[in-house]
Amino acid sequence: MFKNLFSTIFGAAAIFAAIAAPVVAADVNEEKVRVCNSCHGPDGLPPSPTTPNIWGQQLNYLVKQMNDYRSGERKNSPIMSAIVRDVPQEDTGKIAAYYAAKSWPARQAAAAAPPPAAIADKIETCRACHAQNFQGGEQGPRLAGLSYEYLVASMRRFADDQRTNNADMPKLMKALTDSERDAVAKYLAGL
Ligand code: HEC
Ligand code: HEC
Repeated sequence: MFKNLFSTIFGAAAIFAAIAAPVVAADVNEEKVRVCNSCHGPDGLPPSPTTPNIWGQQLNYLVKQMNDYRSGERKNSPIMSAIVRDVPQEDTGKIAAYYAAKSWPARQAAAAAPPPAAIADKIETCRACHAQNFQGGEQGPRLAGLSYEYLVASMRRFADDQRTNNADMPKLMKALTDSERDAVAKYLAGL
């Protein structure tokens, strides 16, 4: 049933490629990311579970989110919308490259369990864009190791049409029940 939902996957990849093209090697002085680190964590671990980790996230995804918050495409976070308005457009790619080049922060996660049987087939669907191991790639951001709180909130926002900066994700999230989204978020947070 998910197959017909993949309509925009190739289009999205092309847009990602176009956005990513001008990004050059990271050239950011620490001053420019100080404000970001106050919430996203100076060591890559955000102090609040509702703030996502951005260290080691996919470059194209980081650029797109900053641009989407700035343009209002992604409007579910007044905080981030206000913050990126103060980031000059020409710094966006550099700041994204700075964070993308970092390693995903290691956490003392428990050994990853296989997905619960009830959601195993749903999880399979996600791998098409978020990669086999959920490390992300050209077609979708990394999900592995984001916090349960952030994952479940993001999934619900897509399902409720509060986050509309992608064509596929709202459809995919509406196709899951609340409890399925909850179980998927728990699984992904444990990876
Ligand atoms: C006051 C706290 C705060 C500051 C400062 C802050 N952020 Fe955020 N950031 C957040 C929160 C909270 C979210 C999650 C918002 C949401 O749910 O959409 C977020 C989301 C993001 C995302 C989306 C990540 C994802 O997985 O979708 C990116 C990218 C990001 N921030 C980059 C930055 C950068 C770059 C800076 C500095 C220029 C910055 N942030 C400063 C709190 C902050
Ligand atoms: C057709 C490709 C595709 C499939 C299949 C897909 N996703 Fe996504 N997903 C994306 C893209 C692209 C984004 C980034 C959207 C944007 O630009 O904000 C995304 C974003 C997300 C986010 C937000 C991440 C963040 O940091 O804010 C979550 C959570 C997520 N997907 C979960 C899932 C789950 C769970 C499944 C399986 C049920 C799934 N996705 C299936 C393409 C896909």
